[in-house]
Amino acid sequence: MRNGLWSGVVCLVALGACRGWESEKPPVHLIPNMDTQEKGKAYRKDTTGLFEDGRMMRPPVEGTVAIGQLNEDDTWVKGVDEKGEPTQKWPASIRNDDGSPKDGLVARGGQRFRIYCAPCHGPNGDGDGPVNTEKGLLVAPPAMHSDRVKALTNGKIYSAITNGANSMPSYASQIPVDDRWAIAAWVRDLQRQKDSSIPWEVGEEKVAAVTVASAEAGSKLYKSKTCFGCHSIDGSKLVGPSFKGIYGRAEKVAAGVGGPVSEIKADDAYLKESMLQPMAKIVEGYPPAMPVLPLNDLEVESLILYMKTLN
Ligand code: HEC
Ligand code: HEC
Repeated sequence: MRNGLWSGVVCLVALGACRGWESEKPPVHLIPNMDTQEKGKAYRKDTTGLFEDGRMMRPPVEGTVAIGQLNEDDTWVKGVDEKGEPTQKWPASIRNDDGSPKDGLVARGGQRFRIYCAPCHGPNGDGDGPVNTEKGLLVAPPAMHSDRVKALTNGKIYSAITNGANSMPSYASQIPVDDRWAIAAWVRDLQRQKDSSIPWEVGEEKVAAVTVASAEAGSKLYKSKTCFGCHSIDGSKLVGPSFKGIYGRAEKVAAGVGGPVSEIKADDAYLKESMLQPMAKIVEGYPPAMPVLPLNDLEVESLILYMKTLN
């Protein structure tokens, strides 16, 4: 018994002593399998390769495109028109003359939507996916037939999938380009089933540039800049606080995400800052989800004049 114990201790000490010893020799590798192989690595400089710089292959000439990967159609790949704006029209290859998407696209899109989008937006696009209803997302995913999504051009729906949208991540690496268009077609079809006045190719509401600040111009901007998707004017809570009664309202705001909370009065300076630097002050009880939207001084002024009419 005693001997057994001692030999055990000696063994441990002996084994322990091996650890930490430095050696120049490669480690003993009893069953090498194919772990180490004498081979050159393509394009890598550090292996002793075919060429002078040690590489096994020449790096491709700058601007080289692999066969089948030349994506010259910006509408198809980026979802933008000739001017670089999100496209209203479907890309030519999937578009019928009447502006509807080609046959089969909607069905395919619905199937893909239920795989990738349903966890948050719900199987029928009602915004009631289990991730949202069970976990409660900080920013609720909108219903696909909400006013906000109905007002998006086809290019913007495509862009939400490709680039993500504020707190929604990009699905570009999971969903290939043709399926992204199929999903966009399904979303549009869904909206049209509920409201037949919606065209296949929704146009951007064009607003003339504001030359004189006015409440009327502000009311148009509220629509065209998609403020209405997150701010109601009837007092109801959407993603952000309602604009009803906002002017002069006393509010608790945090100075930046997680910053100290203080009470402020929503005056001109505060409202202007809220629009131009949404992250500077965050209204208590709301997520830091307001995007930076391009607004010039006249537009900001008009929006404030419009807010004053809502008191
Ligand atoms: C992980 C949850 C999640 C998934 C999955 C998801 N979304 Fe979203 N989506 C959101 C949230 C949250 C928002 C609201 C983002 C915001 O306003 O900050 C949103 C917004 C959107 C919008 C509105 C964009 C805008 O500009 O207002 C569209 C369109 C949309 N999603 C489409 C899709 C489609 C199509 C898919 C599937 C490819 C998808 N989403 C998958 C969470 C998700
Ligand atoms: C994607 C949703 C979203 C959009 C679109 C959006 N906002 Fe917001 N906004 C929010 C959220 C969320 C808050 C509250 C959190 C914060 O203060 O940043 C907020 C806060 C504000 C506030 C401060 C509100 C208060 O009660 O103190 C103002 C002012 C405002 N937004 C103006 C606008 C205007 C104007 C537009 C359109 C040009 C707009 N927002 C578009 C989400 C949005």
